[in-house]
Amino acid sequence: MTHQHNPFSPEHKKELADIAHRIVANGKGILAADESTGSMDKRFSSIGVDNIEENRRCYRQLLFTANKELADCVGGIIFFHETMYQKTDDGVSFVELAKKLKIEVGIKVDKGVVPLAGTNGETTTQGLDGLSERCAQYKKDGANFAKWRCVLKISETTPSSLAIMENANVLARYASICQQNRIVPIVEPEILPDGTHDLKRCQYVSEKVLAAVYKALSDHHVYLEGTLLKPNMVTAGHACPTKYKPEEVGMATVVALRRNVPAAVPGVVFLSGGQSEEEATIHLNAINQCPLLKPWALSFSYGRALQASALKAWGGKKENVPGAMEEYKKRAKANHLAAQGKYVATGQAGAAAGESLFQANHAY
Ligand code: 13P
Repeated sequence: MTHQHNPFSPEHKKELADIAHRIVANGKGILAADESTGSMDKRFSSIGVDNIEENRRCYRQLLFTANKELADCVGGIIFFHETMYQKTDDGVSFVELAKKLKIEVGIKVDKGVVPLAGTNGETTTQGLDGLSERCAQYKKDGANFAKWRCVLKISETTPSSLAIMENANVLARYASICQQNRIVPIVEPEILPDGTHDLKRCQYVSEKVLAAVYKALSDHHVYLEGTLLKPNMVTAGHACPTKYKPEEVGMATVVALRRNVPAAVPGVVFLSGGQSEEEATIHLNAINQCPLLKPWALSFSYGRALQASALKAWGGKKENVPGAMEEYKKRAKANHLAAQGKYVATGQAGAAAGESLFQANHAY
């Protein structure tokens, strides 16, 4: 049996647990704005905007300044490295702006997925080299939490036990390194929605993946109270012919979590994974309305499902900034309600609210 040598001090643990709690307190969630430059290329090409640094800065500024009216809804923002060091038109750094609004600053620290040789197209995520040094610097520069995305695929032959084990272990190594640097790790084992599988199969795979992740976190002595989980919701594959009700998605998701996520974890912040904006909100609401005991905050850490309407309304034009800010605020407020099980669909959704945001084999 292993021993835990030099465990964190009570003060170190309190710092981690307090950060995690603040992010998800009272129905707050996370704006995932950590799209890599490559992902921004895809986002901007959909609206005919050049993917240059100044355009990325203007777009992120629009989102971050809109947060002034979202103090109750947004508890954290995940930044990409470039964004951490950008400023508003008035010279206020984005990090400072978030801190003034009492929004926790997060940073994407993984370096993307790479193939796992000998598997049927499966991947692991790289970025452990120099991670401790990078975390130490980001902490000095204002970050209190981090994100690392691992990806698993459902098919007849996947996920393989190698992919499950390798991705669980790399998530645990990352989480351990973050915590040593007083950074709360968001643990993200994303099971992609690609495929024809049904809801039951997604639930089964989600359970196996989560079980492996929590075994690895335990093996690596990760302090669970100072972590957040960012999973996929349990949904049928994008090409599944059967359509399921929100209550069925809610039940399958909560059952999978209850079986595998310890109650010590303060919050589960779902990714939107290609669902339309409205669908991601309705599903989050159904998850929170599920009539089973749920010991964690169940909230959002959405990228596409918070930004699609705003991006479309902006279209790269200065005069559209106020309208785009309104679209983003609408989604943030709706998801804040859904995180408390209080969302009532109004039928007045935004410019892209009903559009599928699915991209095959999604990279971030
Ligand atoms: P989506 O909500 O667009 O799936 O992305 C969230 C995210 O941060 C994935 O890592």
